[in-house]
Amino acid sequence: MAGRIPRDFIDDLIARADIVEVVNSRVQLKKAGRNYQACCPFHNEKTPSFSVSQEKQFYHCFGCGAHGNVISFLMEHDRLEFPEAVEDLARFMGVEVPREKGSFDPQHQQKKQQRQDDYALMDKVAKHFQSHLTTHQDRKRPQTYLAKRGLSADIINEFDIGYASQAWDSVLKQFGHDTHTQQQLVDLKVVNQNDKGKRYDFFRDRIMFPIKDRRGRVVGFGGRILDQEGPKYLNSPETRIFHKGSELYGFYQARQKHRNLERLLIVEGYMDVVALAQFGIDYAVAALGTATTPDHIQLMLRNTAKITCCYDGDNAGRQAAWRTLENALPMLKDGVELSFLFLPDGEDPDTLVRKIGKEAFESELKNAKPMSKFFFENLLKEHNVASTEGKAALKSVAAPMINRIIGEHQKALLLAELAKLTGEFDQHRNQTQLQAANQVTAPRKADYTAPQKTKTSPIRMMLKLLIEQPSLAKQHPNAVPSALTDITLPGFELLCEVHQHCLSHPQHTSPQLLEQFRQHAAYPHLMKLLVWEHHIAEEQTEQVYVDSFKKLLEWCLTGRMESLLAKSRVQPLDTAEKQELNNLLLRLK
Ligand code: UTP
Ligand code: MN
Repeated sequence: MAGRIPRDFIDDLIARADIVEVVNSRVQLKKAGRNYQACCPFHNEKTPSFSVSQEKQFYHCFGCGAHGNVISFLMEHDRLEFPEAVEDLARFMGVEVPREKGSFDPQHQQKKQQRQDDYALMDKVAKHFQSHLTTHQDRKRPQTYLAKRGLSADIINEFDIGYASQAWDSVLKQFGHDTHTQQQLVDLKVVNQNDKGKRYDFFRDRIMFPIKDRRGRVVGFGGRILDQEGPKYLNSPETRIFHKGSELYGFYQARQKHRNLERLLIVEGYMDVVALAQFGIDYAVAALGTATTPDHIQLMLRNTAKITCCYDGDNAGRQAAWRTLENALPMLKDGVELSFLFLPDGEDPDTLVRKIGKEAFESELKNAKPMSKFFFENLLKEHNVASTEGKAALKSVAAPMINRIIGEHQKALLLAELAKLTGEFDQHRNQTQLQAANQVTAPRKADYTAPQKTKTSPIRMMLKLLIEQPSLAKQHPNAVPSALTDITLPGFELLCEVHQHCLSHPQHTSPQLLEQFRQHAAYPHLMKLLVWEHHIAEEQTEQVYVDSFKKLLEWCLTGRMESLLAKSRVQPLDTAEKQELNNLLLRLK
């Protein structure tokens, strides 16, 4: 790992970059009024709803809701991690990325070197297994086995499938020339060490599936028995380079095949990934014998908006699907489509695709159960909505889950669905129907314009104005939210945080400000606020800002007054409190 990129540098880079120029280098933009337009690179469309604002230095798609600053664009469009996006932007602008001292830290350097050595060694071990499949004296057995399973030579090559021989010391002998490398083999868990300190190969007499990380480096193995007794698969345990919860088998290969992944299919087994790929369904990945983690989902969603989870139709499969669904909820942006395919009894994707072929399999995929359907179907098995109690139980389970979804439209539609099931739909008919109708017919606007009828809260307004114009904090030194006490309203803490930041960085532009909050839990919320239109004329913004603060102050004082009054009803106030109450009463009159 290189040292951290200094914050100031990132700030400066964003300030100097022009998002229009950067986007235009990847997507042809057309000037349209004050902004620039194009067909959105993040979803399929015929008419342009992707807009880039030079003034705000942000992009926003009214179709799929994608939005962000220049760094987000590079991350999303070029599928980069944050530091990579910064590197790319710097290169684009012809500047060198400085690194903080960390990079010269000898310990840091040592770790980096070690990782490189680890990857190199794992690669050699993988090649060793591969070569056994073609040259080892016992090669016949694994070859026959793979042929029996119907794997082609091409696919064996593509997935670097190999064979670990029966010997106890094949890897150990081949690579463990010195104690240092022997220890490394033990650390990487390709060699075991027993209590007595004796070392021997971890994988023996197994078909070997190398597990590659995002960048194609071998980080672990899955080893399958051929015909002998014992657990079917043996997987590398976690090591310093292998973290099961964040790796997906087949992900690297899928990305190699598709620059733009239309969809990803998540299956259970190594063999499933390989067999599907052999049949041309080269976009399947497998979690490594664990449940699908939020990390897995995030990794997939960075590369596609459509995920289909393929599970056994039995109980265990449904349970696994439900766990995946739960993990995915907080990542369901609008535009993301999650679906579930449950396979017939006794089939897995490997056997099924061999039976029905690519086309039929893909048509099954097209008909996979949308998340919303599976969600209610599963809950309705547990809760009988014929009774009031059942309705209440359903609601108490479903509503908190739905509320974890971040896509406003998905959330609204599922809540409307829930209301139908609980019978509350009729009561709120007008409201819900209106809302739902809005969502369906005008998804472009619903998310980004304020609910015009309801008044915007002063917290939201202040936040919005600060994000747009961070200098406001400094210009109005008397409007300090954190000086207000007793406010427990949602968003208030965030407002204080943002205000504090603006105060100490009055020169920041909005993209710079938001960059500071990228890791913050409220980042999506801030981004949403940014694209929300408040329809306040420019010359009025300062007034609105100050008025919003006054409103907050008033709330705070009223709250204080009410609590003093309440107290006075049960016990006498002391002198200071009386004085305070008097002042408050006078002031709030
Ligand atoms: P499956 O039993 O579905 O494996 O287990 P598979 O890939 O279809 O293998 P074949 O077709 O029998 O050869 C699904 C996944 O669960 C993990 C492996 O990751 C496997 O691919 N697993 C299974 C284990 O880790 N250990 C086991 O003993 C079994
Ligand atoms: Mn199988």
